[in-house]
Amino acid sequence: MVSLVQLSPVELETPKGLVIFEGPVTDSYLDSLSMNKGLTNFRPPDRQKEALKQITNLPDGMIFIARHEKEIIGYVTFHHPDDFSRWSKHPRVLEMGGIEVSPEWRGCRVAENLLKLAYSHPAVENFIVITTEYCWHWDTRNTGLDIWAYQKMLTRLFGKAGLEKVTTDDPDILEHPANVLMARKGKNVSREDIMLFEQMRFLRRYRKVANME
Ligand SMILES: CC(C)(COP(=O)(O)OP(=O)(O)OC[C@H]1O[C@@H](n2cnc3c(N)ncnc32)[C@H](O)[C@@H]1OP(=O)(O)O)[C@@H](O)C(=O)NCCC(=O)NCCS
Repeated sequence: MVSLVQLSPVELETPKGLVIFEGPVTDSYLDSLSMNKGLTNFRPPDRQKEALKQITNLPDGMIFIARHEKEIIGYVTFHHPDDFSRWSKHPRVLEMGGIEVSPEWRGCRVAENLLKLAYSHPAVENFIVITTEYCWHWDTRNTGLDIWAYQKMLTRLFGKAGLEKVTTDDPDILEHPANVLMARKGKNVSREDIMLFEQMRFLRRYRKVANME
């Protein structure tokens, strides 16, 4: 279970105003804040706030936010992989589920600083953090980027937090050539858990070797 040690908030002066980065936050703290209306990438802001609150109560759930005054302008989520995913069978995989910054605050290094804070949390070192990047979630309309430029922007951004592109035969990733799986192996993850992860990246091969099919 992820320890919910709260990190000291970090401040960033941006051309649009002061942004505070903090987390992991609790559901009651989220309740005391409003959601920026532009946070619509995954679902409407009110529903997204409910989803964030639910994640704070999951055993491995963590939410980090970027806040301007009393308004959430960005967030990043961490949780155990969904039960239907192959990664849920690995004891040390944590998923970075989503990161979003409101369009009016983009380009101000909010995402970069949010990730910097989140990946400074000691709990992250106990996990292989993965992110499954599906191009149908990307905001090509507001960013003006095509999917390839968007992929480059994301892999560079996540690369700064220590995530690396990894290959896999996961059918959801293979569904579109722009999709990517990225992973970051925490310092405290055992060699055995890293080896298991490497095997699970290519499940068909693993199942054959392990005589599972
Ligand atoms: C991806 C996203 C979180 C980036 O947020 P952001 O706060 O604008 O990012 P930052 O200001 O920290 O910039 C980080 C890097 O991305 C680059 N970048 C961000 N937006 C860009 C754009 N529209 N065009 C070109 N580069 C861009 C920045 O130049 C910077 O790169 P650099 O370090 O090489 O200069 C934001 O666009 C977003 O919320 N998108 C919708 C949700 C999404 O796609 N999430 C990822 C999948 S879960």
